[in-house]
Amino acid sequence: MSKKNKQPNIKDFSVIDLFCGVGGLTHGFVKENFIIDAGIDFDKSCKYAFEKNNAAVFYHEDITNISGGDLASKYTKNKRRILVGCAPCQPFSIYNHRNSNISQTKSDDEKWKLLYSFSNLIEDVKPEIISMENVPQLLKFDNGKVFNDFVYRLKKQGYHVSHYIVNSQDYGVPQRRKRLVLLASLHGNIELIEKTVKNNEFTTVKDAIGHLPPVQDGVSHPSDPLHRARKLTDLNKRRIQATTEGGFWRDWDESLWLECHKKESGKTFRSVYGRMKWNDVAPTMTTYCTGLGNGRFGHPEQDRAISLREAAMLQSFPQDYDFIDPTVPMSTPKIARQIGNAVPVGLGQAIAKSIKIHIESLESN
Ligand SMILES: C[S@@+](CC[C@H](N)C(=O)[O-])C[C@H]1O[C@@H](n2cnc3c(N)ncnc32)[C@H](O)[C@@H]1O
Repeated sequence: MSKKNKQPNIKDFSVIDLFCGVGGLTHGFVKENFIIDAGIDFDKSCKYAFEKNNAAVFYHEDITNISGGDLASKYTKNKRRILVGCAPCQPFSIYNHRNSNISQTKSDDEKWKLLYSFSNLIEDVKPEIISMENVPQLLKFDNGKVFNDFVYRLKKQGYHVSHYIVNSQDYGVPQRRKRLVLLASLHGNIELIEKTVKNNEFTTVKDAIGHLPPVQDGVSHPSDPLHRARKLTDLNKRRIQATTEGGFWRDWDESLWLECHKKESGKTFRSVYGRMKWNDVAPTMTTYCTGLGNGRFGHPEQDRAISLREAAMLQSFPQDYDFIDPTVPMSTPKIARQIGNAVPVGLGQAIAKSIKIHIESLESN
């Protein structure tokens, strides 16, 4: 009697994360019980957090210098391959194109070439399943050329491709963060799972950080050094004191205004120096999200900006995610950048779940 082949299972596969940072995307896969072989990033400062919180090896390498053979050698032998990645978003982000017509402007930042390196590696290694995450502006960048080239090359290799513009808040992340998610498989249609949040019952700022102990600006909490908010100047302290929950600089006495607020153009920057609302999702966490003047990053009720721990939790990292390498002095701006750059863990988990469902739908071979 012939032995029946078993149904494919996620344990038959292993994942490599390109541009892995501190592992937001990877951690979503970890939460869905995937095996992660490796993360690759040229920022060495991400190694500690990536490895400490995920059972995977961090390779400090430049993706543009990696050959297909190098990448293939990082996968466990005999495992089927999944390749995921989120190339840096800055070349395509609104921030960089605020004053330009994005569909007609070619950024002088050449980082978008990284997506071509991603395509080269896919063609060399032929992973069975792929996910790529980026900002939605990528669809329009250079009249859509960069994105269309990426999809064209996938389809030419026989991949089935789908893509979505999603808001992370619809997947349980306590944050408005619109993202482009692309999925591709050599084995037929692959789809992103439906929104997990129904009836606008979003995870709120209060749900995510409301239980954390209070801290003063500039003082770390004794039990968690990451729970530390930037020290405010006296003037900024008075500004945040004058800001109501959900409010912004318009709440202030004119004596507290900045010069730019007095100009017509400044009146449009509604959210700077704003406080978040407890019962709403947070705004998009950026790499500067712990600075009061950089957006609506004021704590809903304490007189300070959000702490690094709060920023991480609004990115849906677990409360015990360890970012602080004890062997080097802690750099607040570096960790803020790592957190702001991350794919929210909750969105990573939605991508991982979608891939799991796809794998479970594959026929035995
Ligand atoms: C958007 S972040 C990725 C975030 C990560 N996926 C996460 O969820 O935490 C992009 C990352 O790409 C890395 N990077 C940029 N250019 C690179 C290159 N040429 N080679 C390797 N890594 C690169 C940056 O250091 C940064 O960590």
